[in-house]
Amino acid sequence: MCAWHHLGTREELLARVPFALKLDRQQVALFHHEGVFRAIGNRCNHKGGPLCEGQVRGEFVMCPWHAWEYSVVTGKGPPGYDEEAVPTFPVEERADGIWLDTDPRTPRRLVKHDPHPLTVLTPRGDGPPRVVGISTTGMDAVNPRLSTSDLLLEAALGHAASALGAETRLLRLRDLAFRACEGNYSKAAHACTWPCAITERDPDDQLTPVYEALVQWADVVLVATPIRWGQASSLYHRMAERLNCIQNQMTIHNRCLIHSKVAAFIITGGQDNVQGVAGGLLTFWAELGFVFPQFPFIAHSRGWDAEDMENNVRDVRQSSALHAAAGELVGRAVELWRTLPRAGTPDRPMERSGRKAQPLFPAGGGEG
Ligand code: FES
Repeated sequence: MCAWHHLGTREELLARVPFALKLDRQQVALFHHEGVFRAIGNRCNHKGGPLCEGQVRGEFVMCPWHAWEYSVVTGKGPPGYDEEAVPTFPVEERADGIWLDTDPRTPRRLVKHDPHPLTVLTPRGDGPPRVVGISTTGMDAVNPRLSTSDLLLEAALGHAASALGAETRLLRLRDLAFRACEGNYSKAAHACTWPCAITERDPDDQLTPVYEALVQWADVVLVATPIRWGQASSLYHRMAERLNCIQNQMTIHNRCLIHSKVAAFIITGGQDNVQGVAGGLLTFWAELGFVFPQFPFIAHSRGWDAEDMENNVRDVRQSSALHAAAGELVGRAVELWRTLPRAGTPDRPMERSGRKAQPLFPAGGGEG
């Protein structure tokens, strides 16, 4: 039931604004703008971000999660986006303080947006195995060098196509201009969304082919990385941070985007820590929902004191054993994939207790 409520004295509220309150099942954000108290719904239309925690510039508050804006006066978006609106609530300043009516003066208005293509996931049909290779080494495209991880990745993809009858794709992260993760997860679990908020709003961001391959097209993913100071490459980590939005769907929605998909790894370096790099890769890709074949990586390193990199390149190029190992790796991955269940859509729940976020809108959360 909606009604007028006494919120406090002017001085009490001035000491607190902006802040959120819940009254009569409404979630309200209270602001003070140009000498007047203003109340709008606290939930952002996009994904429910808390507007009371946003930055206020002029009459507009910017959602702290992904920067949608609303007028604290009218509840509408800025010019050009003003079909979108959060509710506004009447506020009165009376002799005994500030009063608010929980019956909205203007309603929430949600504009229907076309679904992002990444949200439309279809069941896998019949057909040959699909293998995507992800190259994570960086180099100058105009004056490229020979990369040992790329060399073995290309050998694996070649084997997949010629010996296993697979369809293959090669994605080189160095050819894709994509932004670093902006850490929305660190604001709130529900602020990290699928598709990634960067992908949704920045048409120039080029990580979409990676997302599409991982959640939709590919059955087998081969990730190839050099060892850089004992770790996977910086490009690998730049991509991995952006894949948090896949893992996070399990945390916040019990929604598994990766089903019946296999990952395997190629790790090469002039220096050591193969086991450390493999451990990080296995942990992360397991958290995304991938499964692994027996012996899920191949690797080559000549050790900590092997600074003669030209010999490292020569060794890998000339090693028939490593080239054979690359083929065998993808063979094991495809063989495992052939045994996995195919039924169902790629996006479905999975039992996995123990890593759950709080619900975004607890029961009885109200409209505002
Ligand atoms: S902009 Fe508000 S939740 Fe995304």
